Amino acid sequence: MKKILITGGAGFLGSNLTEKLIENNFIISIDNLSSGSIQNVKPYLNRPNFQFIEHDIIQPIDIEFDEIYNMACPASPVLYQKNPIQTIKTSIIGTLNLIEIARKNNAKFLQASTSEIYGDPVEHPQKETYRGNVDTKSIRSCYDEGKRASETILFDYNRIYGVDTKIARIFNTYGKNMLKDDGRVISNFTVQALLNKDITVYGNGFQTRSFCYVDDLIKGLIKLMESNINDAVNLGNNEEHTILDIANIVIKKTNSKSKIVYKNLPCDDPKKRKPDISKAKKLLNWTPETNLEVGLDKTIEYFREILK
Ligand SMILES: NC(=O)c1ccc[n+]([C@@H]2O[C@H](COP(=O)([O-])OP(=O)(O)OC[C@H]3O[C@@H](n4cnc5c(N)ncnc54)[C@H](O)[C@@H]3O)[C@@H](O)[C@H]2O)c1
Repeated sequence: MKKILITGGAGFLGSNLTEKLIENNFIISIDNLSSGSIQNVKPYLNRPNFQFIEHDIIQPIDIEFDEIYNMACPASPVLYQKNPIQTIKTSIIGTLNLIEIARKNNAKFLQASTSEIYGDPVEHPQKETYRGNVDTKSIRSCYDEGKRASETILFDYNRIYGVDTKIARIFNTYGKNMLKDDGRVISNFTVQALLNKDITVYGNGFQTRSFCYVDDLIKGLIKLMESNINDAVNLGNNEEHTILDIANIVIKKTNSKSKIVYKNLPCDDPKKRKPDISKAKKLLNWTPETNLEVGLDKTIEYFREILK
């Protein structure tokens, strides 16, 4: 049985990854519970092949594992901007701490990177070869630049020490185990619609995003870990929607009485975001299978349950 470390294990993606990997592996889940919830790992706490450690990855830790999915880092702009120094430390110091252990253990290392490393892109859709458009001065840069540096750390550990490193550039993902108040588009809209509260659209709503359902993303992460690729790969859904479209679909699906209200666009909010996933298709034989309608139905069901 492989020993797999999942950092950020109590978060949205970490807990969905745990659900999939716990069937055949021993899972060590590390989380400081800053933007995740212990509720997300509650179903596993009594399983003999599961261990939860409350720990901040900025602090060193002594631990053995065969593979690590380094998912720790708040992903919602509202949450990662709350404590920007902590955010950048998580991506840089946290990654350095963990990759040193991976090197000693001869373990595989997958880093959860992000489409945000492309910043406000001038190339559309974004290919892995695009170098990005990020401003060091921006309030988003604690996240964007932290993730960019974490990628550099992985590339250097691979070149210098031969660590088996993989980088997943994850694009907006949604689904069960998102926090109901984490400020991300789909969780915001769904919760507001279910509670018949105003739906807040930032800007005019014509900015676009491409949303990937969580089950598809998790399959992609596992395929990347199992591959012999030591490079960065985009993982996301390339079906593009305006934010306004999403708000209207959610209102319709929930039969909500909510009205759409408009607020100022946050600073440096990207106008467009859509992955080119031809690399993942070719090298991993991976492609997302869940369209937005189906994924939203499942997500609305999840939030309906937790709001009861
Ligand atoms: N969900 C997405 O759409 C998306 C998109 C791009 C990238 N990502 C990346 O995927 C990873 C997981 O994202 P998510 O959506 O599950 O976010 P999340 O906030 O739900 O989960 C992150 C988890 O990491 C934990 N954490 C944060 N800082 C930590 C630290 N210093 N030490 C230990 N634990 C810490 C949090 O408590 C939380 O449980 C993140 O690294 C994020 O940058 C996610």
